[in-house]
Amino acid sequence: MEIIITSGYDEMSRRCARIIADEIKKKYDIVLGLATGGTPIGTYKELIRLHKEDGLDFSKVKSFNLDEYIGLSPLHKDSYNFFMWENLFKHVNINPGNVYVPQGDTNDPEEFCRWYEEQIKKAGGIDLQLLGIGGDGHIAFNEPGSSFASRTRVKALDKQTIEDNARFFEREEDVPRFAITMGIGTIMEARKILLIVNGEKKADVCARFIEGPVTSQITASALQLHNHATVILDKAAASKLARTEYYNWVRDNKHLVKKWIGR
Ligand code: PGA
Repeated sequence: MEIIITSGYDEMSRRCARIIADEIKKKYDIVLGLATGGTPIGTYKELIRLHKEDGLDFSKVKSFNLDEYIGLSPLHKDSYNFFMWENLFKHVNINPGNVYVPQGDTNDPEEFCRWYEEQIKKAGGIDLQLLGIGGDGHIAFNEPGSSFASRTRVKALDKQTIEDNARFFEREEDVPRFAITMGIGTIMEARKILLIVNGEKKADVCARFIEGPVTSQITASALQLHNHATVILDKAAASKLARTEYYNWVRDNKHLVKKWIGR
């Protein structure tokens, strides 16, 4: 894993958006995996700026979102589909036909999940997957204990996730108890993975998933087994890491890293 420590939320967001923009420029019909939550909002703002000011072109980009709450229709104001349109899609020139978000109000979740996996395959797989991390160490809604082989499926939300996400709803009782989520197996097939995380509240979980043992109890730790995963943290989220000197040396000697490692 490449670990990039930044000064704060804004720098984290700018760096993340720059990496995504560079990948779009390299492959105009890239397949992106996208995430929701508080963390990626700054990244999406910066991508919108790059579209408006620098002409970053989304016209051939395809995107697959990680997850959606069961029971919410795509137009519900608390749905992740709505979030994505409000925070990114409606501000850029993405083709609505190229946008995939799991359907929270499907009558047949099992069949839907199979179909979703098939669409990812048909698109040629995900080139670059953006992730946040939950307070319980989850990526997407792969709660502690999720199998590393899991595919897109319905998952019951952990108590901590429900509490953490209550801030987006009027009342905690309104937070759905289930979600459709890509599995760890699905996520691990992405060619490149980019995880962003900020804030002191996530410092413990960052130390655990980056420097602790690989365990399904912290599903983000699966990224240790991926061959192209990058984590961009702010200083607060990185405050409990042990090897920051090494990470910062690599970050600050990019020219040497590029020469010898090629990334
Ligand atoms: P957050 O959620 O960005 O709102 O902290 C992250 C996550 O649960 O993946």
